Amino acid sequence: MDKMAVRGGHQLNGVTAASGAKNSALPLLFATLLADGEHVFHNVPDLVDVKSACALLESLGCETCYKDHTLRVFVKPARVAEASYDIVRKMRASILCLGPLLARYMEAKVSLPGGCAIGTRPIDLHLEGMKAMGAEISVDAGYVLAKTVKLQGAKILFEAPTVGGTENVMMAATLADGETLIENAAKEPEIVDLANYLNKMGAKVEGAGTSIIRIRGVNKLKAAEHTVIPDRIEAGTLLIAGAITGGEVTVTRSAPADLEALIVKMRESGFKITTSGDSVTVHRTRGWRGVDITTAPHPAFATDLQAQFMALMTQAEGTSVITETVFENRFMHVQELVRLNADITPKTRVAVVRGTPGKLMGAPVMATDLRASACLVLAGLVAEGETVVNRIYHLDRGYENMEAKLMALGAQVERVK
Ligand code: UD1
Repeated sequence: MDKMAVRGGHQLNGVTAASGAKNSALPLLFATLLADGEHVFHNVPDLVDVKSACALLESLGCETCYKDHTLRVFVKPARVAEASYDIVRKMRASILCLGPLLARYMEAKVSLPGGCAIGTRPIDLHLEGMKAMGAEISVDAGYVLAKTVKLQGAKILFEAPTVGGTENVMMAATLADGETLIENAAKEPEIVDLANYLNKMGAKVEGAGTSIIRIRGVNKLKAAEHTVIPDRIEAGTLLIAGAITGGEVTVTRSAPADLEALIVKMRESGFKITTSGDSVTVHRTRGWRGVDITTAPHPAFATDLQAQFMALMTQAEGTSVITETVFENRFMHVQELVRLNADITPKTRVAVVRGTPGKLMGAPVMATDLRASACLVLAGLVAEGETVVNRIYHLDRGYENMEAKLMALGAQVERVK
């Protein structure tokens, strides 16, 4: 299993580019199931999760071809509407094939994704949405079995905004009879990206990016071409990488508007951040302050940047209170940061970080999930000596060529096979 060895104490400076968004690419790939033909996506990140999505599409009878960040998916009239445990267990987002398969073939069998390191992450809201559209749902031997004569438009009020649930229902509703209204929908930029692609395919989706999405069902969709939006979480992570070392880093090919909540908090902490077009720059800063954050659905502070921001706060002057409201178990990185000599008290959903610049000491640590891995690499950039992050495969699921990007900015990191 690969590890990442990080030698701390090197200031990061320079320009780097964000890759395409993983969380956009995955639903887009599953949306292809809604129409036969050749779907073409540009700016697709080269990630393990994207490979897993392709493997799932291939198991459903599609062909995929990836070259130079362009991914072509050839969808043929499928005979298979079953997503097996072996594939789904590798990536929870596989559940996003449920809506498209059900809408297209009137039945689907998809393995339950199961738990994961950052909480139980149920899919009850996805299933409630499908049921409201007239699907019969049962669970047997670890599989969700869904069938319908024809999905019907419905009014669906999500108890809490769910990103995957909104995407799954939105995709299913494109081919349903009549109109579907999703209320309390998630508003993430990735949902807007998916809606834009669905509309290119001939769907009638309005309101994506707001809490009410209206979908008028159509009879048929067609394959189309699309460019994936920039990865706001990767861009934010690279910005924090520059910030934590006190350097000046510009992230190009990003979408600064999607990073607003992070930028506001970094400025409050004392960083100078400027934006220009698709670029965002953190300028050299010394002596930033501890600030409090609370994660919540977009446009609030993203849970996917919480761990990385915590690493930054270990180097702040003063205390920071970090509250996680999206997932119930997303402080797995705290104990690892403590191994690096950070002073953090976690209490269920709140962590109190008492920052002291220059206090971190390198040590071997264990990555537990994708964003926790990024947090530990960031902490390693400023820890004295060497930090070895074990189980770096988590990082490869969501960050394209992270070590190359960091090294180009002046970091000393090495992948140890
Ligand atoms: C997506 C992102 C993930 C991000 C998360 C929150 C992808 C591939 N992943 O995950 O990176 O951290 O949004 O921004 O886009 N919930 C239920 N029942 C459900 C569905 C969700 O209770 O049926 C709960 C979850 O347990 C969680 C909260 O709702 O507490 C939000 O989850 P959700 O927005 O659905 O996250 P994902 O789509 O899984």
